[in-house]
Amino acid sequence: MSFDRTVKIAPSILSADFANFGQEIRAIEDQGADWVHIDVMDGHFVPNLTFGPPAVKAFRPHVKTVMDVHLMISPVDAYIDAYADAGADVLTAHVEAGAHTHRTMQAIRGAGMKAGVALNPGTPAEAVEHLLDLTDLICVMTVNPGFGGQKFIDMTSKVRKLREMIGDREIHIEIDGGVDPTSAPLVTAAGADVLVAGSAVFKGGSVDTPEVYGANMEAIRKSCI
Ligand code: DX5
Ligand code: ZN
Repeated sequence: MSFDRTVKIAPSILSADFANFGQEIRAIEDQGADWVHIDVMDGHFVPNLTFGPPAVKAFRPHVKTVMDVHLMISPVDAYIDAYADAGADVLTAHVEAGAHTHRTMQAIRGAGMKAGVALNPGTPAEAVEHLLDLTDLICVMTVNPGFGGQKFIDMTSKVRKLREMIGDREIHIEIDGGVDPTSAPLVTAAGADVLVAGSAVFKGGSVDTPEVYGANMEAIRKSCI
C-alpha cells in the first residue's frame, strides 16, 4: 500500500445488498472505488450489529484494492489478530473504545496492518496527538457512528487542525458519515484524502446497474476539484 494524498473514495458496504456482497464489491471496484470500507459494529460501542471476522474473511478474496476495516467495537484488543487473519489492510479503532489506544495502535501494526484511529464528533483533535507516530490513518466521524444514511456534521475545523498536526507524516485523513457532493469539497479542502461514502455511492444503483455507482462516485470526485 503506497501513500499519497490524492482524493480516494471508499464506499461503505453497509449500504450494499447484504445478500450479495461479492458482486457488490466487484461492482464498486469496477466502477472506480479506490478502497472498500467495512463497518464492524458490536451492539455495545454503537447501537447496531454487523460483521464478525468470518464475514470479513469471506469478503477478502473479492477485494482487489484496499480492505479498510472500521471497528466500532469495545474492547478492541482481543479481536485484532482475528481481523488480521481476515485480511484487513487497514484496521481502525476508536480512541473512545478503551483506555489504552496507544497499546491498541502498537498491536495493530504489530499484527502487520496499517493502524487507524477514529474520533467521534464530540472528541477533539488533541485526543490523538500522542498517537501520531503510531498511526497511518485518522478517521474523522462526521456522524455519530452506528448507521448509514445520517446527516453530515461539519467537522471541517477539526480536519484542518489534524492536517496541521500531521505535518509531513504519512497519515491519511479519512472522513466517515454523510459524505456526498455537497460535503466532500469542504473536507478535502481542509486536508482530508479518504472519503467513505455509503448511501451516496449505492443510491439508485444495483449490481445490474453498476454504472449508477460509477456516476455517484464521479459526482463526489468532481465536487472536490
Ligand atoms: C457509520 C459508518 C459509516 C457509514 C457511512 O457508523 O461508520 O461508514 O456506513 O454511511 P453514509 O455515507 O450513508 O453516511
Ligand atoms: Zn465507517
